Amino acid sequence: MNAPKLGWSDVTPKSVFLNRRAVIAGAGAMAIAGSVGQAQAQVAASTSRFSTDEAPNTLEEITSYNNFYEFGTGKEDPARNAAALTVDPWSIVIDGLVDRPGTYDLADVMKDQPLEERIYRFRCVEAWSMVVPWIGFELAGLLNRVGVQPSAKYVAFETLVRPEEMPGQRAPILEWPYREGLRLDEAMNPLTILATGLYGEEMPKQNGAPIRLVVPWKYGFKSIKSIVKISVVADQPQTTWNMLQPSEYGFYSNVNPTVDHPRWSQASERRIGAGLFAGRQDTLMFNGYEEQVAALYAGMDLAANY
Ligand code: MTE
Repeated sequence: MNAPKLGWSDVTPKSVFLNRRAVIAGAGAMAIAGSVGQAQAQVAASTSRFSTDEAPNTLEEITSYNNFYEFGTGKEDPARNAAALTVDPWSIVIDGLVDRPGTYDLADVMKDQPLEERIYRFRCVEAWSMVVPWIGFELAGLLNRVGVQPSAKYVAFETLVRPEEMPGQRAPILEWPYREGLRLDEAMNPLTILATGLYGEEMPKQNGAPIRLVVPWKYGFKSIKSIVKISVVADQPQTTWNMLQPSEYGFYSNVNPTVDHPRWSQASERRIGAGLFAGRQDTLMFNGYEEQVAALYAGMDLAANY
């Protein structure tokens, strides 16, 4: 995979999102076109069949109320502190049970992966939710490109460690690096994306620039930000929140309104931006993606394997 050395800004989709409806009307596959310095996103064909038609949260809401403990534990800390993060150059180590392991430049990771807009519900384990218009590509596309070996069963992810730029990492709030993992079939599900942007622009730093995971049927903490390592492995990997408190944060962490968190109910959620008098809304099984993912867990005790 010898891609030309493109900078992040050269490959970032820059489709104009001023008229969201117009974009959605023609969205779907967003192809990166042009050469170094004049890359452009082109909006093709149709909107993704996986997108919800629920109204997305505003850019302001999505970028000002975040969880990104590397920048602090407060919801406003990431917006305040993430500007210091250097995201160009960026590379990702892909290793483990793959045919073509290596350190891939971000441009190389994205090469040939069709970018799509995916408007997904996003449900945090803390019982708030948003609707986010991500731009990204299917993780399966990348895994297929590097060649997953037959003995592989899980995929593990890591966020970068850079305490100089990430003030939260100067304290042992969590065990750094932030780690997450998926079963291989979950990673290969077409709903699972690596997102490189939202609202048609490159990923805001507080949302996990330049590239993060989005797994919309799982609680938000599974959607690891600012990824620098992807390992394809045989055994279930250790994951940050599960290591910290296994009784509260399971490896699977599928959104499930019938299985409460030990300290609060998961039956309903507060939609950010809905207004003071909107009330809570019911949480949906698998966050509303039951049709696409329920089969992954056939025969599994969902309460025990939360
Ligand atoms: N990834 C890293 N590296 N560090 C984090 O603290 N927080 C997780 C997840 N990914 C987190 C992370 C949690 S708890 C949630 S709810 C989502 O990111 C929040 O994503 P958002 O800020 O884009 O809404």
